[in-house]
Order: sequence, then C-alpha cells, then structure tokens
Amino acid sequence: MSAPEFPATTERSTLCGALRAEHAGTQARLGGWVESSRNLGGMVFLNLRDRAGVVQVSFNPDFTPAAMIETASSVSLESVVRVEGTVALRPQNMANADMDTGAVEVQATSITVLGPAESIAMPVVAKRSNLPAEEIRLRYRYLDLRRAPLQANLILRHRLLQVTRAFLDARGFLEVETPILTKPTPEGSRDYVVPSRLHPAEFYALPQSPQLYKQLLMISGMDRYFQLARCFRDEDLRADRQPEFTQIDIEASFITPEDLYTLTEGMLQALFAVAGIQIATPFPRMTYADAMENYGCDRPDMRYGLQIRDVTSVFRESDFAIARAAIASGGRVRGIVIPGGAALSRKQVDEIEVAAKSAGAAGLMRIKCVNGVADGAPAKALTDAGRAALRLSDGDLMLLVAGPDHISNPALDRTRQDAARRMSLVPDGASELLWVTDFPMFAVDPETGRLDAMHHPFTAPNPEDFGFLDSEPARIRALAYDVILNGTELGGGSIRIGDPALQRRVLSLLGIDASTAEERFGFLLEALSAGAPPHGGIALGFDRIAMLLAGAPSLRDVIAFPKTTAARALFEGAPTVIPADELAALHLKPAHA
Ligand code: AMO
Repeated sequence: MSAPEFPATTERSTLCGALRAEHAGTQARLGGWVESSRNLGGMVFLNLRDRAGVVQVSFNPDFTPAAMIETASSVSLESVVRVEGTVALRPQNMANADMDTGAVEVQATSITVLGPAESIAMPVVAKRSNLPAEEIRLRYRYLDLRRAPLQANLILRHRLLQVTRAFLDARGFLEVETPILTKPTPEGSRDYVVPSRLHPAEFYALPQSPQLYKQLLMISGMDRYFQLARCFRDEDLRADRQPEFTQIDIEASFITPEDLYTLTEGMLQALFAVAGIQIATPFPRMTYADAMENYGCDRPDMRYGLQIRDVTSVFRESDFAIARAAIASGGRVRGIVIPGGAALSRKQVDEIEVAAKSAGAAGLMRIKCVNGVADGAPAKALTDAGRAALRLSDGDLMLLVAGPDHISNPALDRTRQDAARRMSLVPDGASELLWVTDFPMFAVDPETGRLDAMHHPFTAPNPEDFGFLDSEPARIRALAYDVILNGTELGGGSIRIGDPALQRRVLSLLGIDASTAEERFGFLLEALSAGAPPHGGIALGFDRIAMLLAGAPSLRDVIAFPKTTAARALFEGAPTVIPADELAALHLKPAHA
C-alpha cells in the first residue's frame, strides 16, 4: 500500500503509517495510539498507530533519556502519545514484511502522554475470531472504529463519495440538497415522523427518498441533479437495510432509460475501480417477466445457474395428487435441477425444504436420478416417457414446487439460493451485474386484487401498454429498471409521469381518491401542469455499494454510527424517552398517560 499524503502540522511531522525506508535518517514527530508494548530488559518497543497504519517505536538507553524509557514502559495501551525521534532502518533480519512500515523503526528521544487511556471497555486489537460481540462493539463504537478494517472501510467509503461526486460533476449534474423535514413520500415503507411544536398535532416526515423534490428540480429547469441523499425508512431491518441510509440519487431531463443505463454503468465502473475491480459494460439485461420465470425473483443472482424449469406438461397426465391438484386449480409444477444433488443427504434436503417452506411453499417434491433412472414418489407417478421428458442426468436432484406462481416463485428463489450455497456453486470474487427491466406498473394483491405501485406512483407506464390502462392495469409494464449485483438490488429508477392527467389516473388506480391525491401530491400535480420536461432518474444504495466493495457482511461495517437490527443507536442511546414537559411542548402525551 502506498503511504498517504498528509500535510505536517505544528504538532506532528508525519503519520506513523507513512514511514518507509526512504525516510531513514529523518527526524519524525508522531502522534498516535499505543497499540502494543514490549519491555525487553531495559529496552521498550511500542507499536504506535494512527489512521495511516502502525510503526514500531523503540526506546533504548543508547538514544533515549532514562525518564523517557520510564514513561514508555508505564504507558497504558490505547493511550495517545506524542513521540519524537529518528527514523532508522531496521537491521535486515529485524525487518517485518507484514507491516507497511516494517523496514524502519523510530528511535525515540522523547515521549509525552497526551491522552492517557485509563479504562478501555473492550480490546481494540483482536483477531476477527476473537472480536467482542457486535452489541459491545456498537456500544463502544469509538473504540471499534480504531480497528484497521473499519477504518479501511470508512476510507473506502470516502473515496467512493469523492469519485461519485467527480463523475457526476463532470457530466453536468448539480448537487442540490433537499429538505429532511418534509412531507410523507411514498416509497412503500413507514415514515419516521417529527412532531411540530409550532403546529399542534402536525408532523413532519423524514424523507424516504428525495423523489418528489428531484422531480420538482427538473420542472424548475435544473436539468441534471444528484445528491448523496440521506433517506429514512421505518421498515424491518436486515444486514443490507438500515433505517437511515444514503442514496446516490440522480434525476435528469430529456433522457431515456438507455441514457440512464449508460450513465449508471459508467459510474459503477468508476466506483468498482476504486476497489480494484474491473467490470465490463454494458451490463446484461433481463425483463422482469424472464427473471420471475427463470429465477423466481426480480433480483436474480447470476453467479450460478440452477434456472427454474417448468415441467407442468410432464405432470399434467401423471397421477401424482399434489401436482394434479395444483395444475387443476391453475397452478404449475416448476423446479430446479441440482447437478450432483443426489448425493445430498435426506437431512440436507429436508433443510432446503425448510427454507422453501419459510417462503410459503407447502413442501418440495423430490426426484433423484440414480443409475440413469429418475427415482422418488413424483417420478414413480410418471410414465417412462414422462420420466425421460424430465431430462435428468445421473446424480441430479430435482426439487419441484407445485402451485400458483405467487407461492412457487419465492419458494424456488429460496431453494435455488440455498442449494447453490450447499453445493458451493457461488464463485468467490465474481461480480455479476444485471439490469432487470420492464417491471410491471402495479403489484396486484392475489387475495384482494388491490393494486400497489411496484416502484412508486410517479413511474411512467410503457406507452405500448397504455391500452390496458382501463381494461387490465396488471398487464401494464412500467418504464422502470433495477440494477442488481450478485442478487442484491443496488438501485432502481424509472422514467416519470410528465402528464398531470395521467398522474391523477395512476393515483386513482392505486385507490387514492382525488381529494387525497390533491392533499398529498397537489404540489407535484400543480408543478406538472406548469411546463414539465420529460424526466427520469435512478437511486443507488450507496451503503450497499460500499458494503459489497469492502467485502463486508453488513451495512453496519461501512457506516460510522449504524443502528442495530432493532433500530437502536447503542453508543449514544437512541431512541430515548423525553421528559413529560418536553412532550407537552410538542403537544404529545406520554404513551402510558
Ligand atoms: P428505491 O426505494 O428502490 O428507489 O431505493 C433505491 C435504493 O436504495 C437502497 N435502499 C436501502 N439501502 C439501505 N437500507 C435501506 N433501508 C434501503 N432501502 C433502499 C437500495 C435501493 O435499490 N426514489 C426511488 C428511486 C428513483 O425512482 O429514482 C427510490 O428511492 O439499494
């Protein structure tokens, strides 16, 4: 790793981690944390750490005054000290190839303890396997953030932010900040709300995204907007979801999906390059319909195959009751073939079935191909021709779900992911990017038939499908797209509705009556009638990009002060109860009153 650039200050001449062989013979004034200490018969060695890395400092009667050796030998770990001395080459046999600074040491002439560490709640230097529990690390985040891997993640995050800004700035995008205290924005989650003191019983909402503002900026003629936008969503959390997160939010006028694909691909290429990963453009594309048919989900992981097959026609004539019943009620029999899966134990397949069941399936039908013969109850219910039509090879395991697509899709998605992991089909280090296009405009509730916006209510329908607006809204495709990396949704966007009449029509299809539409989105409808350019955009989950490029398992590893999965901030202790008089000033009553 090359040494970072850092200007000297009056307090410090250089960084610990920046010292190299070429500095031998120079004087150094360092400030840092004492990471480790060894006392070897009158000589003391401290490892001193700062953001740039760690350097060995030696205290030796040959060049260090006795009082200074005394201070060095008694200083506690994680104290902050200032050290002055001479940078010296270590003898060849003492060089440490594992340290970037390992060719040198600092021969100290003085040490001053600036910030003694009197009590340290958790060890800072620990092997990954010995790390304190995450709850503890989040509680003492200032200590956790001293660890090199977390510092490296934040440094990477910083670089990614700078590259994003430079990339978009070079293409005419203006960075515009939009309000945090705002009105509910419909991105499909619950809002975080803030009570208004000045206006009793009224609340601001924190933005789920700057969606409406960026559209208004297009109507204002700003032409190209971006923002590293903080978004707030009160939703169930998991490793790749935080209640507050950052988007690379983009909107542009006079633009088509093709332009946005090219822009996004170029930007992701630049961002991946920061992590030393080359990605090829253009990214492959797949329609939503094909993604659901072949992978059971709208963000398929393309690092492995295991495509879903439809074997309904094979089972139509069989006397396998589950399959027949599903087909008779309009469902299908679909599944995946796992090469070599016949070797999985019954227990392992039972575990895959548990995953499929948790996604809603009643169970998995199993067929093994052993010695060229398809075996298992469903296979036995087929004719020879039926078994042959399954096209199984020796060692294959076929796992099938019989039922309507809204049940089999999520179940087969889970089955596919679980099987790929078990069979070690997920290659290390692969980055499979994909555009999923042609999303339906509306998600239809299978029980009630109610329509919901698949993306958000401002997404434009595909003009080719306008004809279905009155007759079959469920068939309308939207001009919406998602970009996927290895099965994770990195971002999504759309071309927006520019015509206020169409916008009203779409809101009404979503069950939002005219007066509610005016009340919630009147300002947008009004602006759309004031000369709106055609416009569209995309938002990329910045934390997700940072997480994937850092190779981190959780967003918490790339956010300086993240929340737990229970949406708590453990270090500062939020959310928190506020005193009754403050509640009263906000016109609120305590929950128990
Ligand atoms: P969308 O809701 O798809 O689109 O969000 C865009 C991207 O933001 C990231 N993301 C999250 N990251 C971390 N934690 C979360 N809770 C979280 N929720 C979403 C995802 C997602 O792909 N306004 C539209 C965009 C547009 O139409 O231009 C929007 O917000 O990576």
